[in-house]
Amino acid sequence: MKKKLISILLSVMVISSLLVGCGKKDTETSTNDGGKKIGVAMPTKDLQRWNQDGANMKKELEAAGYQVDLQYANNDIATQVSQIENMITSKVDALVIASIDGGSLGTVLAEAKSANIPVIAYDRLIMDTDAVSYYATFDNYMVGTIQGQYIVDQLDLDNQAGPFNIELFTGSPDDNNARYFFGGAMDVLNPYIESGKLVVVSGQKEFEEVATLNWSTEEAQKRMENLITANYANGTKLDVVLSSNDSCAIGITNALVGAGYTKENFPILTGQDCDITSVKNILAGTQSMSIFKDTRTLATKVVEMLTAIMEGKEVPINDTKTYDNGTGIIPTYLCEPVFADADNYKELLIDSGYYTEDQVK
Ligand code: BGC
Repeated sequence: MKKKLISILLSVMVISSLLVGCGKKDTETSTNDGGKKIGVAMPTKDLQRWNQDGANMKKELEAAGYQVDLQYANNDIATQVSQIENMITSKVDALVIASIDGGSLGTVLAEAKSANIPVIAYDRLIMDTDAVSYYATFDNYMVGTIQGQYIVDQLDLDNQAGPFNIELFTGSPDDNNARYFFGGAMDVLNPYIESGKLVVVSGQKEFEEVATLNWSTEEAQKRMENLITANYANGTKLDVVLSSNDSCAIGITNALVGAGYTKENFPILTGQDCDITSVKNILAGTQSMSIFKDTRTLATKVVEMLTAIMEGKEVPINDTKTYDNGTGIIPTYLCEPVFADADNYKELLIDSGYYTEDQVK
């Protein structure tokens, strides 16, 4: 009994340490005396993935001998700008930035450029500034095509006549990634919408209509509730919801559960990030899948890129044509996303050591 209690307490501690917010400091500095210093600016602690990104980056950079100044900006653009300003003043040797609003960092990054500080845009491209040296991310377009293809396969759209009813959700309009996610998914889904096998009952298909500011769970929930009231209250069946990520999928799930949907009639619902809440929902039979972007892979790659920059060696990149930030193409390293669902989560998420089984139970 006592043993069980201790093990429950331990798993609660492990989970809480991974969970969002949880009163952790927004600033983490390290000393690796004599090592070069890297400033790492992350958008927010509100989403689990950025906590993992930050923690992995710090761990890997320190292991490679760097000092790290890691900052989270609570999704506030002015805070992120001033954090980056401070990093420049404190003479960091390089900056790694996951931006909040990709279009708002031009002025501060001009300072970085004149101080000869290389900048790696992390996960999200930083727009309209020539101060960005490299971009490292997961293949954002592929994230969307995998989500779209998952829907096609689950509904067996090539063999079924349908029609199936679908609603569409994507992310924040100030995040360049959102257009790639949505564009990739729609490139797969559009032919089926055009042939009438998929029907967007609300008629809301344009990026601006389906975007979710700040990737907010609450906004997604509100919009799903409104869509249900306006289009599905009369018994019309909702078969699929495309959601670009997990924070939106969680809001969508809340709305659907609130409207009485159960795992028996839950629509197919996509997501991205494999946040713990979403993995639990996948195992509970509500959310169907989530794109798995192993943040350890991205961190390792960024450290490799930084080291090459510092040593004046060739920087690993594998894409020189996709990501134009308004000032030209930014040389990019694209990691490959995959999807996790109830069938393969164990191998992908547990056996790989990303989560423990207890965390997702
Ligand atoms: C990231 C996603 C994440 C979203 C919300 C995007 O830029 O690529 O992984 O779900 O932001 O934070």
